[in-house]
Parts: sequence; C-alpha cells; structure tokens
Amino acid sequence: MRKISWQHLNPQVKTLLHGVSRAAEGAGISVYIVGGTVRDILLQKRNVDLDCVVEGNAIELAQRVADLVRGELKIHERFQTATVTSPDRISVDFAMAREEFYPHPGALPVVRPGTLEADLKRRDFTINAMAAVLHGPDAGVLRDLYDGVHDLLRRHLRILHDNSFIDDPTRILRGVRFEQRLNFKFEPRTDRLLKSALRRNVLARIKPARYFTDFRKVLKEEEALGCVRRLRRLGGLDCFFKGRAINDRVLGQIEERRRRLPSFYPAQEADWPMIRFMALLAGLDKVQIEYILKGVPVCRREKESLLGAIQATSQAKLLSVKRMASSDIYAILKPLALENILFIRLRTSVKIVHERVDLFLEKLAHIRLDITGEDVQKALGKRPSRIVGRILAEVMEQKLNGRCPDRARQLEFMRERTCRI
Ligand code: CTP
Repeated sequence: MRKISWQHLNPQVKTLLHGVSRAAEGAGISVYIVGGTVRDILLQKRNVDLDCVVEGNAIELAQRVADLVRGELKIHERFQTATVTSPDRISVDFAMAREEFYPHPGALPVVRPGTLEADLKRRDFTINAMAAVLHGPDAGVLRDLYDGVHDLLRRHLRILHDNSFIDDPTRILRGVRFEQRLNFKFEPRTDRLLKSALRRNVLARIKPARYFTDFRKVLKEEEALGCVRRLRRLGGLDCFFKGRAINDRVLGQIEERRRRLPSFYPAQEADWPMIRFMALLAGLDKVQIEYILKGVPVCRREKESLLGAIQATSQAKLLSVKRMASSDIYAILKPLALENILFIRLRTSVKIVHERVDLFLEKLAHIRLDITGEDVQKALGKRPSRIVGRILAEVMEQKLNGRCPDRARQLEFMRERTCRI
C-alpha cells in the first residue's frame, strides 16, 4: 500500500487538508484528493490546486470544513460543487464522485453520482487519474488503479481507454500541455490514438468556445511556445485558426525578449495569454481576425486589444521618429491596454522604441496633475464646462514635458489659458 508524502507541501496547505480530514471523519464521509492535485504532490510541487472528490454530499462536507477551519464557503449550485477558502487564502474545491458518459463524440458528458473508482475511470491520463484518501485510518493511502505512479516515473502520458480523445478532443490540447510542461512523452499507443483522432478531425467537432477554453490554458503555460509549435506540427491548430497561418515566429521573438524586460515592468499584471494570442495573429488583418474570433469567448476589452494589436508595427514606427516630446509618447501609449503596450515593446528590436516605452511605463504613466477639474471650472466661472477636459489635457501636456511641475505653476498656466477663452 503506497502512501503519499505531504512533507514538501506548504504548512497552510497541510493545515487545510488536515481540516478536511477531521471534518470528513466527524461526518462519516469519504473524501479524496484527486487528479492534478495528486500528480503535483507526487511531483513534489509546492503550490498545488486542491481538488477533492467526495463519495456523498460534497456541499455538506464543504460546509463542515468551512465551519471547522473558519473559512469562506462558496457553493456552485449548478454544478453541485463548493469551494472553501481558508483564512490563509488557500482554496480547496469539493465535487461529488461521479460517473460520466458521452451521448456522442465531442459532446459534453452526461454525469451522475458514482463511486471514486467510476470518477477516476472518466479521467484523461493515468497520471491524472490517481486519488489519495483523506479520511479515517487509511488517510494518505494512494488509489492508483491505472498505474499512474509508474507512468510518472517513466515520464509517460497514457490515456485510460482507446476512445479518450474521441470522447473529449480537448484532451489533445491538455496532453500537449502536460507533455511540454512536464517534459513527458505520449507512450506509443496514446501517441497513435492521438494522431489517429487528429486525422479524423475530432477537433472540428467541438465548438470554438470549448477549444478556446483549453487553448487559453495552452497560452498560459510557461512553455506556451513549445505547446503551440507541437500543436501546429500535429495539425491541432488548423480548425481553430481556420487554416490561417499562425505566427509562431513572432511568438518566439516575444518569449525571447520578455526575459530581458526591465524589472520595473508591471509584467505580472499583464494577461500573457492575450499577448501570446496577439503574436499568433500577427500579420492577419481585421477581417481575418474577426473571422477567427467568431464564437470565441473573449470579452469586449480582449477583442479590442487583439484587433488593436494590428497597429503595433505602425505605433512602433511613430515611436521611433527622431524628436519626440514626452507628451507625444504619452498620447500614443496612454489610450492602450497594458497588453498592447507590451506587445509593441516586444514586437520590435528598435532601441529608441524600447527606451520610449520604458519611459512611459516607468514614469509618464504615473504622472498625475496637481489641479482638478474643479479648479478649472472655478476659473472659468459661468463659461461652458465642456472645455474643462481640454484645458486639463493641455496642463497635463505641460507637466509631462517638465514645464509645469507643481500646483502653483499649473494654476498659473491654467488661468492664463482660461483668460484667452
Ligand atoms: N480532467 C479530465 N479531462 C478533462 C479535464 C479534466 O480527465 N478534459 C480531469 C483530470 O483528472 C484532471 C482533473 O480533471 O487532473 C482536473 O482538471 P484541471 O484542473 O483542468 O487539470 P489539472 O490536471 O489540475 O491541470 P492544471 O495543472 O493545468 O490545472
């Protein structure tokens, strides 16, 4: 009987899992950590997403855990699942053990309550089909019905049954993600079935929305470039990009230059999957991008950014002219989303453009006026307030160019300006 070792988990995670064990014992409910959680614990990753499967009422157990650890409880009625977030801000998801069947290939599965064994059977790869007991005297015991540990040791990705990629084609994208992330290999039968599924064009059977949910995860990977290149070679991108050539060369450039960004860059705040998507679409025009985005769940802001990225090269050209005031740089970059600014910076190798984008992100973007619209309105008296914005913009231009650094000088400039109206 193999037991899982919790040693390398951070203490907050251990405390929370201990709380789950105690709550389950109190209620006489069987609960297991499952899937990617077990995989990552066995791979000795420190930060893991915590997924629990409950043989019984998942919501009831989640409520008990939340009470016990004084955590926050969120119930997702529609899926009959719940999330508990501990006071240390660690979250654990609870779902009822279920079995699943596919009414037809590529459809979303129909689910009903089941045992742990049935729950593991419906999963994608053996390394993701393990569980560890959390309740009772067996706590820590690994349930590895498909030899997942063996595959972890051999660094193999193995599906559980021959129809896996046909039933759920998104597993092709998942498989490539794990292959690149973990540096694993598809074992021969899985490799053969994956290629055969692609030849049968199974990815065309799923809606763009479903493909993109998984493709976004591909783009989130540290190894996104490797994943995209692998998917392209396999022919796993064509149906989504509708045969358009995707630009993994630009993606390669961006990944390379991203490593050399100055440390003051707010890179953590940026949506990298979107920037990578912009890179893949580089070279396509508005009509082509809109065609690809049909039915794809991107919000309005994301769509604007993706279409806005078409301008990146011309914006870089504008930023490379010989003489430019700070206010000119500001006027070009201020209206743009952070992702578009980063895309311009990473798309070009022109030094002056790099310097100007750096100046914007380090300094100009943080500059605020020391006067307000009220100050301007007061000075204007009864004159129309629609010019307030314009005057403020002019004062800002002065400040950006270093001419009106403080409130006194801004007020002076503003009064002079309002007199002339
Ligand atoms: N799963 C599956 N088939 C899918 C999606 C998920 O079998 N198409 C199962 C796998 O057992 C997986 C678990 O559900 O481990 C949790 O899914 P998810 O959180 O999406 O994946 P992780 O394996 O945790 O991967 P990641 O580390 O990327 O979050």
